[in-house]
Amino acid sequence: MTPIRAVAHTNIALIKYWGKNKGDGNLPAVGSLSLTLDQFYTTTLVEPNEQDVFELDGKKATQEAVRVFAHVDWFRKLTGNAQKFKICSFNEVPTASGLASSASAFAALTMGLAQAFGLDFSRQELSRIARRGSGSAARSLFSGFALMHGGPHISDEGAFAEPIQTPLSESLAMIVLECAIKPKDIGSRDAMKRVTETSIFYEAFRAQHPRLLESAVSALRSGDLEQLGRLMENSTLQMHATMLGCSEPFWYFNAATMAALSEVTSLRRSGHLCYFTMDAGPHVKVLCHLHAAESLRERLARVEGVARATICRAGPGAYLS
Ligand code: PMV
Repeated sequence: MTPIRAVAHTNIALIKYWGKNKGDGNLPAVGSLSLTLDQFYTTTLVEPNEQDVFELDGKKATQEAVRVFAHVDWFRKLTGNAQKFKICSFNEVPTASGLASSASAFAALTMGLAQAFGLDFSRQELSRIARRGSGSAARSLFSGFALMHGGPHISDEGAFAEPIQTPLSESLAMIVLECAIKPKDIGSRDAMKRVTETSIFYEAFRAQHPRLLESAVSALRSGDLEQLGRLMENSTLQMHATMLGCSEPFWYFNAATMAALSEVTSLRRSGHLCYFTMDAGPHVKVLCHLHAAESLRERLARVEGVARATICRAGPGAYLS
């Protein structure tokens, strides 16, 4: 039997998901807005096996297997089918370094397992299931821009992503600046836990978030890059500020990150429309018009410490291949 093969692309949040509600189900404490990228993705092969086995990029991956097998267990419980699987994932994205590898990983895994268990689910349902593995994965089910629902009172049924239509979907680019090549020290799960439990800034972040998200969605719908870009920068800086307010503070910025952020702001001062965002890692992603992307990429690739600068466009939602 040939394995089931599922592919999912990473997505980057313009307005960040940051913090979970207490209890089960991995429910996001705030909503989010993202762009799925064409360049970075995960391919996952799923086949029935005598034992559960997980391999990442050709090697047995014990640490990552814990969350992968928990996701398989959830499907087993749902269907009452105890089948075990060999699961092999290949990342075309730097793993665990803040380039959203868990988003593409859990979206691909969800697609593959749903097929393996013979479940004919809608994308919205798949999005809800992917969320259990990784909050950001719920958004990778969709191409282009996606809105993920969240909030302090969100239910399991309500916590899914949906696509957002915009006149900008064909004309925007995101330049990914890789500012480190090693895995990050603290993953987003632990980071969120520390922030929600100890940051003096988290309540302020959460309280103003719905307004920020709503304004960003309307800027996106009306095709206003300038407004969208400014709100995107606010969201990322507010998220990173929560980390500095923890009882044990931490940060993801390194020297290359800071240099890249300065270059983006100075390019903007000289009239270029470009805006930065960062996730739980040192990399910087720059939103701009597609027609300006190559000249901006050349400038940004010269920033000291930037290892690679890749232009991405809107990418596809997760699919079986
Ligand atoms: O999906 P997770 O649990 O890896 O969390 C993602 C968190 C951020 O990337 C920082 C923000 C986001 O919305 O993607």
